[in-house]
Amino acid sequence: MSKIFQIVVFASGNGSNFKKIHQEILASNINGNIGILISNNKQCGAVDYATEHGIKCVILDKKNEISENTFMQILEGYLPDLIILAGYLKLIPASVIRKYKHKIINIHPALLPSFGGKGMYGSNVHKAVLASKQITSGATVHFVDEKYDHGQIIDQQEVQVFPDDTAELLARRVLEVEHLLYPRVVKACCEDRIIWEGDAPRIIPSK
Ligand code: GAR
Repeated sequence: MSKIFQIVVFASGNGSNFKKIHQEILASNINGNIGILISNNKQCGAVDYATEHGIKCVILDKKNEISENTFMQILEGYLPDLIILAGYLKLIPASVIRKYKHKIINIHPALLPSFGGKGMYGSNVHKAVLASKQITSGATVHFVDEKYDHGQIIDQQEVQVFPDDTAELLARRVLEVEHLLYPRVVKACCEDRIIWEGDAPRIIPSK
C-alpha cells in the first residue's frame, strides 16, 4: 500500500470543490487524508461541510488574525504533503510558499494566465471573459506562488462560451468542469504523477 498523502485544504466559499475532493477520498479514488480545513469565513459552505464530516477547522478571520509564524506552526502540525486552495482568496505567506514549494495548488475558474489576479474571483472572472468576447473559457489548476492566480499551470479544461451566455450560466458550466479537473489533479499529486519538463509540470498517466 502506498503512502497516504496528508492534505490541508484552504476554502472560504461554498466548498463544492473541497466536497468533491473529499468524496473521492471517501470512495478510495484519491490516496489522501484531509487533516484540516483552514478558512477565513466561519459561515460558509466549506466550514459547514467540514463540521458535518468531522474535519477539524481553523478559522482565520479578522477577529482571529495570526502571525506568519503561527500560520506555519498550524500547517506543520499536520505535516502536509499537499496543500489545496479551493476558493481561498487570500495570499499565502511567502515563507509558507517557500517551505511548501510545489506542494500548494489552486483552482481558478478561467484559462490562466488570462483572467486571473487580485479581484478576479466569482462572477468578476466570468463577466470579464464575456466582456472580452472569448469563445472559450474553462478552469485551471496551478502551483501557487507569491502572486494571485500565478505559478506553473498543471492542467486546464476548456468550456465553450455561447453567444447568449450570462456570467451565471458560464460560472455553472465552469464549476462542473472544476469538479472533474480538481479531483483528477489531486489524485495525480497523491500518486506522484506530476513530472517536470524544465519549468513545466505535466501529469503522467497512471500505470
Ligand atoms: C471556484 O470557482 C474556484 O475556481 C474559485 O472559487 C470558487 C470556489 O467554489 N477560485 C478563485 O476564483 C481563485 N482565484 P467552491 O467554494 O464551490 O469550491
